[in-house]
Parts: sequence; structure tokens; C-alpha cells
Amino acid sequence: MTQQASHRPGRNGLWRVLAPLLALGLSGSVWAAQPVAPAADDIATGAKLAEKHCAACHGATGQGATIDFASLAGQNEMYIAKQLREFASGERDSTVMDSKASILSECSIRAVAKFYQSQVPKVSPSKDPMLANAGQFVYERGNPYAGLPACVSCHGTGGRGNAELPRLAGQNPRYMERQLKNYVSRTRAGDSAAVMTMVASRMTEMEMKAVVEYLGAMK
Ligand code: HEC
Ligand code: HEC
Repeated sequence: MTQQASHRPGRNGLWRVLAPLLALGLSGSVWAAQPVAPAADDIATGAKLAEKHCAACHGATGQGATIDFASLAGQNEMYIAKQLREFASGERDSTVMDSKASILSECSIRAVAKFYQSQVPKVSPSKDPMLANAGQFVYERGNPYAGLPACVSCHGTGGRGNAELPRLAGQNPRYMERQLKNYVSRTRAGDSAAVMTMVASRMTEMEMKAVVEYLGAMK
């Protein structure tokens, strides 16, 4: 976000200076050496990469082709990029994603991450409001009788996460439930995964199902 914010005005500023000059006919070889073209880690480049390499599973706008796939729409850019680097290095193990991520250059990783963060997050309306209510308790208070910390203490009010932490609001429930189980079995590793292994190991099956039901419907 901050990165984007700091880039944009500069680029637009340059364009504002160049556009009138180009309109006056000062185009061609004089300007050929100027870096007017957008950097290759921008949203448009990311959109093209995503359409070609990712849309089959993550959907055209990143919301996930089915509820089994991670929704990437609105997910935090730095978190996405970090996960892709961890897939590529094999630190986060996934037969499917390890090969997808290893074809991406660092520039492409930043581009797809920017593209997905710019997309509209998904919302899956709850089919079981009573279960979702139990999930809200887990999210906001944890389970004080089992030493389960409240999710809100890290993932934040509204489930937005932050640069390092994933957004959970609107994430596909079945994907999240599988991830929680992967943390318990340590199938999902990576340098930030240990904390979630500790958290998820203290959850009952019902608490998992309840919290993902609640989060999937969160706007
Ligand atoms: C053939 C299906 C498939 C394709 C194509 C695919 N993915 Fe994935 N992706 C998955 C699966 C399955 C997972 C869940 C992996 C796991 O269980 O850890 C995933 C997970 C991810 C995650 C982690 C999400 C999170 O919330 O932690 C990111 C980021 C991601 N994919 C990005 C991409 C990008 C970028 C591309 C294109 C370059 C891509 N994927 C292409 C199937 C796919
Ligand atoms: C102490 C901080 C902390 C607490 C408390 C916490 N989390 Fe997390 N959570 C993290 C971190 C850090 C990650 C990213 C880990 C990684 O990179 O694998 C994460 C990742 C996740 C993911 C994977 C998201 C994805 O897109 O793949 C889910 C699901 C999740 N947390 C759910 C929860 C739930 C539900 C709770 C409450 C019961 C909770 N977390 C409490 C820090 C926390």
C-alpha cells in the first residue's frame, strides 16, 4: 500500500510533465531513452500474469474458482508476495503452488500481488447464522477455557490483517478450515506458521467450523 502510494504520484507527475510536450510533437528518438513505460511490477502486468497462470484456480477476479481455493481478492499485497516466495522455495509445501510460484520472477510476484490486492474481496453469506455467532465469539474472545487466543488480537477488527498478516474477511471457508488443519499437522510451515500451529492446535473441530463460517461472511 505505502509502496503503491509512494509510486503513483511520481509516475503521474512525470506524465503530467511529458504529456503536453508529446502533444507538441516532441516525440520519437529524443524521448526514447526516458523511462515513461510503467514499471513491470504494476497492476496491469499483474492482471495479465494472473489471467494466464492463475485464473483457472483462483478465478478471473481472484475470488477463487470454487470455495476450495484461496480467495486472493483484496488480500494484502505483502502477505501474498511472501507466500509466493515461500511456495517457490518449498518452505510452504503445495504440489500445485510450488511449481506455479517458481516460474514467477520477483518482479512478477510483486505485480500479481498488487493486482490481487486491488480486486474486490469476496463475501460468502452464512448458511448457518447460529454457527456464525459461535464463530464471532471465537474470533473476538478466543476460548479462555482452553488457552485459545482471540483471533482479533492479530488479524484485527474486521478481519483485515495487515501487511504481514493475512486478511481473513471473506476468505473461502473450506480453504480456511483446511489451512487450520494443515497448521495442526504442520503440513503448512514457513517462518510465520509456528504461531498458527500453536493457535490451531488449541481449537476444536466445532470452533474451526464456526470461525470460518463467521469469517467467510465478513465484509
Ligand atoms: C491448478 C490450480 C492453481 C493455480 C493455477 C494457481 N494456484 Fe494458487 N493455490 C492453489 C491451491 C490449491 C492453493 C492452496 C495451497 C495450500 O493448501 O497451501 C493455492 C494457494 C495460493 C496462495 C496462498 C493464499 C493464502 O491465502 O495463503 C497464493 C498467494 C496463490 N495461490 C497465488 C497464486 C498465483 C499468483 C498463481 C498464478 C501464478 C496461482 N496461485 C495459480 C491452486 C492454484
Ligand atoms: C499471535 C497472532 C495470531 C493469532 C492470535 C491468530 N493468528 Fe491466524 N495467522 C497469524 C499469522 C502470522 C499468519 C500467517 C502464517 C503463515 O504465514 O503461514 C496467520 C494465518 C492464518 C490463516 C491462513 C490464512 C490464509 O490465507 O491462508 C488462517 C485461516 C488463520 N490465521 C486463522 C486464525 C484464526 C481463526 C484465529 C483465532 C482462532 C487466528 N488465526 C489467530 C497470526 C495469528
